[in-house]
Amino acid sequence: MARMLTFSIFRYNPQDPASVPHMQEFRLAETESMTLFIALNRLREEQDHSLQFDFCCRAAICGACAMVINGRPGLACHSKTKDLPDKITLMPLPVFKLIGDLSVDTGSWFRGMAKRIESWCHTKKVFDPTAQEERMDNALAERIYELDRCVECGCCVAACGTALMRDDFLGAVALNRVARFVLDPRDERSEQDYFDIIGTDEGVFGCMGLLGCQDVCPKRLPLQEVLGKLRLKMAFAAANHLLPKFLRREIKL
Ligand code: SF4
Ligand code: SF4
Ligand code: FES
Repeated sequence: MARMLTFSIFRYNPQDPASVPHMQEFRLAETESMTLFIALNRLREEQDHSLQFDFCCRAAICGACAMVINGRPGLACHSKTKDLPDKITLMPLPVFKLIGDLSVDTGSWFRGMAKRIESWCHTKKVFDPTAQEERMDNALAERIYELDRCVECGCCVAACGTALMRDDFLGAVALNRVARFVLDPRDERSEQDYFDIIGTDEGVFGCMGLLGCQDVCPKRLPLQEVLGKLRLKMAFAAANHLLPKFLRREIKL
């Protein structure tokens, strides 16, 4: 017999002065292969048209459906109800601005982050549309692609103790993005340039290393490795000019 699921969902509309934050319960019979995406759409269609949440791709690609599922940030379209208990609590991601109910504005946060870390290839080369594409070693291209798989869902930020305590913390997603440009030979930024962006408490030295980010990343990005190497690289970047030449080191990612 199908399980009867109870959903306890955060409700609040910041645009409505009469709205008060509260949890609302819904009940829904589980169906085969039900995801939270399917369940939420059924709740909205059949029980409450005003329920707000975000979706786009339904395939763990757009990152829009991230929310806190029974206390853990995750993608609703990627979460099967069969893997969850009968009672499912859904909250919006913290850190990001609330739009309403389970919908948050990750876009503004990510745009601000991209500006702060200057998330583009810095090169003095002038673009020549007639020139052949620059070649890149396959193994290196794959390493860059691995870090580029981030879907900007915000789960790692929502799970990060530092990001919860200070709103200027760049977070694992930004540090991962920086690592992607450090690896990219087309980006001509120096180690000092990167240090100026992330060699601070808002950057790599604010990270407490408890790795909530890696635990919840739905794309299983190697955040632990990236953060560890980046921290070491920045520590040496800070120390190198104080050290005699034979002790200086450049840490490769
Ligand atoms: S390891 Fe660093 S970035 Fe990841 S959750 Fe912890 S403090 Fe945040
Ligand atoms: S690093 Fe992972 S958890 Fe963080 S935004 Fe990217 S995909 Fe989401
Ligand atoms: S709807 Fe796109 S990641 Fe879930």
